[in-house]
Amino acid sequence: MDKVTVKSVREMKAKGQKITMLTAYDYAFANILDGAGVDILLVGDSLGMVTLGYDDTLPVTVEDMMHHTKAVVRGTKRAMVVTDMPFMSYQVSDEKAMENVGNIMKFTGTHALKLEGGERIVGLVKRMTDAGIPVMGHLGLTPQSILQFGGYGLQASSIEEAQRLLSDAIALEEAGAFALVLEKIPSELAELVTASLEIPTIGIGAGPACDGQVLVVNDMLGMFEKFVPKFVKQYANLRAIIDQAAKDYINDVRGDVFPAGEQTFHMDKETLGNFMEEIDRGLGRK
Ligand code: KIV
Repeated sequence: MDKVTVKSVREMKAKGQKITMLTAYDYAFANILDGAGVDILLVGDSLGMVTLGYDDTLPVTVEDMMHHTKAVVRGTKRAMVVTDMPFMSYQVSDEKAMENVGNIMKFTGTHALKLEGGERIVGLVKRMTDAGIPVMGHLGLTPQSILQFGGYGLQASSIEEAQRLLSDAIALEEAGAFALVLEKIPSELAELVTASLEIPTIGIGAGPACDGQVLVVNDMLGMFEKFVPKFVKQYANLRAIIDQAAKDYINDVRGDVFPAGEQTFHMDKETLGNFMEEIDRGLGRK
């Protein structure tokens, strides 16, 4: 079992092998997804919405990301773990950003960090990669800019926006990013970006030409109830399964069906006899 590394991810693109990435936020899911063979586990700041119940990713803190990343790292043997830098952890100044980067890298055991943005963050990406930190870029629909976008709509659909995205992608590659997430952009543009870069592109709502694909695990397992984006394929309906299991449990407890004999522990007969005698003596019955 070879561990997935920056080098092996780049080799996968060169060999035309598709890269698989899913989000994970805790030990249990990391353990299952890693065991299934997913190449990259992203501790996405989407955790703010799907595990913490916020309306968007903006309230997520560095501490939240560190807490969840540590659990994911503990559940992972083969996959590469990538952690999102949350909103305002890298926008204030490069100095503050490098401090946050250092803390996340040192105290979580993650293997790489993901940042949203193009030209604006190129200097920081260069600084991080110069310091030996693998950086994954993220262009297109970047949820940390949701207030500016005014919704989760398709990005880079005009000629100017598409040109900007392409030049941002090239700038990120030149700054040293090892991979690039492309979110919710036309598939033709994703294909062009993928062909223009040596580093792999990983698409979410960016069509089939990307070098890999990523989904939010709660979406693909049918666990997030608020909305299902068009680009999601649901591979299971865990919400229905969990709902049914919880109802079965409630019925069993209320109907005295659970716990049954096989879930119950007993004292051996002799200990029980002696114990009852002790109790009787204590109560003055003997
Ligand atoms: O936070 C996240 O889960 C992400 C993916 C959607 C790529 O950034």
